[in-house]
Amino acid sequence: MESNSRDGFSSKIGVIAAAAGSAIGLGNIWRFPYIIGDNGGGAFLIVYLLCVLTLGIPIMIGEFALGRISRVNAIATFRNLAPKSIFSIVGYIGLLSAFCILSFYGVVAGWCFSYILKSLSGEFNNLTADKADLIFNNLITGGLEPIFWQVAFMFLTGFIVLFGIKNGIEKYSKILMPLLFIIIIILDIRAITLANASDGLSFLFKFDFSKITLNTIFMALGQAFFSLSVGMGTMITYGSYISKKENLLTTSLNVAFADTLVAILAGIAIFPAVFTFGIDPSSGAGLAFISLPMVFSKMFMGNIFSLLFFILLLVAGLTSSISILEVIVAFICEDFSISRKKVTILTTIIVSLSGVICSLSNGFMKIDIFNHSYMDFLNYLSSNFLLPLGAILISIFIGFCFDKKLFIKELTNNGEIELPFKNLLFFLFKFFIPFIISIIFLQNLNIIKL
Ligand code: PHE
Repeated sequence: MESNSRDGFSSKIGVIAAAAGSAIGLGNIWRFPYIIGDNGGGAFLIVYLLCVLTLGIPIMIGEFALGRISRVNAIATFRNLAPKSIFSIVGYIGLLSAFCILSFYGVVAGWCFSYILKSLSGEFNNLTADKADLIFNNLITGGLEPIFWQVAFMFLTGFIVLFGIKNGIEKYSKILMPLLFIIIIILDIRAITLANASDGLSFLFKFDFSKITLNTIFMALGQAFFSLSVGMGTMITYGSYISKKENLLTTSLNVAFADTLVAILAGIAIFPAVFTFGIDPSSGAGLAFISLPMVFSKMFMGNIFSLLFFILLLVAGLTSSISILEVIVAFICEDFSISRKKVTILTTIIVSLSGVICSLSNGFMKIDIFNHSYMDFLNYLSSNFLLPLGAILISIFIGFCFDKKLFIKELTNNGEIELPFKNLLFFLFKFFIPFIISIIFLQNLNIIKL
């Protein structure tokens, strides 16, 4: 099944950088803090960690294995491994998720460009909470400016994907990911020395179990899938480029660990500032864009840190957006035998157009679906419905319909390495993951009331 001419990752570090690059993104630094802020802090964190451990990691392991077995894009993977069965829709759900996520992802990443320029121009000097709020709202409702940056970001994404896996995705991820870690740690050190840092930290880490509701679990689940890039075939696609020598179990654990660590580090960078400067933790999607400039404005050489931070947020976004675009590009290239170049350009244009609508829906124009702006709708639909739906189907497929021996053979590299917790893994695929996701769906569709 393996074709020699197919592009792929060239080293272990390359695989981890690219997969962690996919996982670590705006989801960690932009989305995680505002979702945790909206959902009561520490109570959410613990549910989130449980979701990563019991649902996210197994799905990541499963996706890597299926991709490496089939050695093709996510849609063809299911078509080949589950011909003529309902499971072939998993790939298409993934395709739709990729389209939805990339549409709003580009908008948020585009905001970073504008914040980079603002850092350079000194606009964040002596910032008050009101002013920070105003700057953010003026930007996102600004019409042309956010659209311009969104399109620029999408073309940057397309540019990297054009070069393929080894010379594009892997090469850039290896340079950009270590930088991200260094900067976030520097920011954390500054944040925890702010006046009311302890309030922020206790908001983040104080586990108040009474605050856990079914909605908390629902949001945590969606965030875990979004953050780990699972449920839509990204890791199947990346898995198809991983060499047969790599250990998929340790790769998954490393990626999930790095991803969770960065989410927590982002929380530590943001909440002390939120509490020190009196920002409402549940103020939504602007949280990172409003609170962090305030931290920077109070820092020695704050403009430089602000600049670095938004460059790195952009970078984190970029190493994720390339993985999302790759899902679509790999499918069209392989299934229709069209050149990577043509497909990448065309897909970039189409997704950019949807991104324009997202951007406009933030206030410049009223573009609502079910009472949510188009952008919020795509954000919610993808993380909270499409990714869990993809994940439940992948889980049932592996648990009940796929050859268990072949699956284990793939994870043990043909018996060469150990696979601990085999039975636990299959218990999760067969019962736990389908059960938890079903309950959450049924509750949310108002079919059951818990
Ligand atoms: N995991 C990425 C983030 O945290 C987003 C993403 C979702 C990437 C789904 C690929 C697939 O920002």
